[in-house]
Amino acid sequence: MAEKEVLLVFGTRPEAIKMCPLVLELKRRGHMNVKVCVTGQHREMLQQVLHTFGVVPDYDLHVMKEGQDLYDVTSRVLLGMRDILVQEKPDVVLVHGDTSTAFAACLAAFYAHVPVGHVEAGLRTYDLESPYPEEYNRQAIGISARWHFAPTQAAREHLLREGKDPARIYVTGNTGIDALQTTVRPDYSHPELDWARDSRLLVITAHRRENLGQPMREMFRAIRRIAEDFPNVKAVYPIHLNPLVRQIAAEELQGCDSIHLIEPLPAEDFHNFLKRSYLILTDSGGIQEEAPALGKPVLVMRNTTERPEGVAAGTLKLTGTGEAAIYSACRTLLEDPEAYRLMAQAKNPYGDGTASRQIVDILERELHAQA
Ligand code: UD1
Ligand code: UDP
Repeated sequence: MAEKEVLLVFGTRPEAIKMCPLVLELKRRGHMNVKVCVTGQHREMLQQVLHTFGVVPDYDLHVMKEGQDLYDVTSRVLLGMRDILVQEKPDVVLVHGDTSTAFAACLAAFYAHVPVGHVEAGLRTYDLESPYPEEYNRQAIGISARWHFAPTQAAREHLLREGKDPARIYVTGNTGIDALQTTVRPDYSHPELDWARDSRLLVITAHRRENLGQPMREMFRAIRRIAEDFPNVKAVYPIHLNPLVRQIAAEELQGCDSIHLIEPLPAEDFHNFLKRSYLILTDSGGIQEEAPALGKPVLVMRNTTERPEGVAAGTLKLTGTGEAAIYSACRTLLEDPEAYRLMAQAKNPYGDGTASRQIVDILERELHAQA
């Protein structure tokens, strides 16, 4: 029987963090020909992750440019993938989540009649504007994907309600938890954590497209007020490389001694920062999965979330993006130990860290059955 080929395509930091464990597991088994194509939708932030996991791509589409919009990324990935699909003729293309990279790579595979496996399938808000354009992307991928690797039962339910074949939906947990298990260490240290040693540490991230502008200003104003009002609080904010985010962060947060604006951290460092934090404020998706596993309360500075499991577990609280609501929620967690205790319970709705192994088992079985 000819060796089957699996082509993994990803391009941004969060996709890389959640796809590298899968790449490593596929290569460890050695049963299939494994090819990795990075689109380079992100550049430096992607390289950080590849370096952490020691993954060397076979292809790099180098699509990133400053100020890229959705048309740029989608069209460049779609065209770049055409040539690679012709050359590789893979038996399956694996994409992750809901980025423009994932959407365009899935569309390219559909055009080439190559089956797609969708990792982290079935997350939904059913609001196409929030998160934008991710809700569209993941629903669109769901239309043509042959295999849906859902992280939770709730994600599976979404896919069932949309009429997907139950036999092709697998609940595997999230590969992000696999990654987390390899990064967090009790003996970790870092100069920023030394700086915050005797304080309550807030870890901040923000980047969502729909929050650029006034919502992001409001988030940062709330955080600045907290930092000014609570002398025993320090905040570390590794700023996303999007120049629009960096400009707003500089305008709203610079000059406050208890807030450190730093460069994006490698995943292994960032995960240890989360572990050491008192509280996380973010509009990120992936951090909403990592924090419950670490028992860290998260104020989710968004109006919707596709991760209701973390809200149900009590670790996540949706604040919206208004300054007053974020300030008040943060103040409560700093002043009310019982409110804090209720949120700081380590629960892990996103699997036991074996998602990659399960996905590889399923792929081997499915592709074998086709032989
Ligand atoms: C993208 C994804 C989003 C994901 C996020 C993770 C889409 C539509 N959006 O949004 O779903 O949550 O990644 O972070 O796919 N930049 C650099 N270097 C880097 C990375 C980014 O300079 O390594 C700058 C570039 O100027 C780039 C800008 O950031 O133009 C925005 O990057 P882009 O991938 O378009 O959007 P994100 O907001 O990162
Ligand atoms: N992350 C990181 N370094 C940082 C900030 C975040 O490695 O400085 C990780 C974080 O642990 C999570 C992922 O990046 O795994 C989230 O990425 P991001 O917030 O950019 O995207 P999203 O998850 O919102 O799509």
